[in-house]
Amino acid sequence: MGELLKEKICEHCNGSETEFGEIDAIIDYYKGKDGCLIQVLHAAQGVYGYLPLPLQRHIADSLDIPVSEVAGVVSFYSFFSPTPRGKHTIRVCMGTACYVRGGKKIVESLEKTLNVELGGTTEDGKFTFEIARCIGACGLAPAIMIDDEVYKQVTPSKINAILAEY
Ligand code: FES
Repeated sequence: MGELLKEKICEHCNGSETEFGEIDAIIDYYKGKDGCLIQVLHAAQGVYGYLPLPLQRHIADSLDIPVSEVAGVVSFYSFFSPTPRGKHTIRVCMGTACYVRGGKKIVESLEKTLNVELGGTTEDGKFTFEIARCIGACGLAPAIMIDDEVYKQVTPSKINAILAEY
């Protein structure tokens, strides 16, 4: 998706000449309906993989709303990302149970192993690394999620084996 987007962004302009034709039909469909901005942003992220500023501008212009409103929604919801995301998303639970049972050590171990800071994406584009607030596995904390898969009783020594599955 990221490559598709790169092709569409003119390197020599600020994005105003960018074409985001794939979502124009979706914008037309939702325009004027309740919650249309959220629906359009979901669709746009699904098509392009993330929501860079030129795309946010295009959506704002197409919906006749200020770009600040679009940017506000994108930054408010953690689901939306203005930067490219990795193929897989790792979420380390930092809810109370996981925190007291070593969640912080898992975060440190992943930062070292992946060579990326929390919130970042690995250089090879494979993983985006985030934290979560309770993923429903408190009894077997600390827990992490990779995409939809939950890993329980994780220790730093298990990290490499877990990542190897991907
Ligand atoms: S606090 Fe981590 S799963 Fe609930």
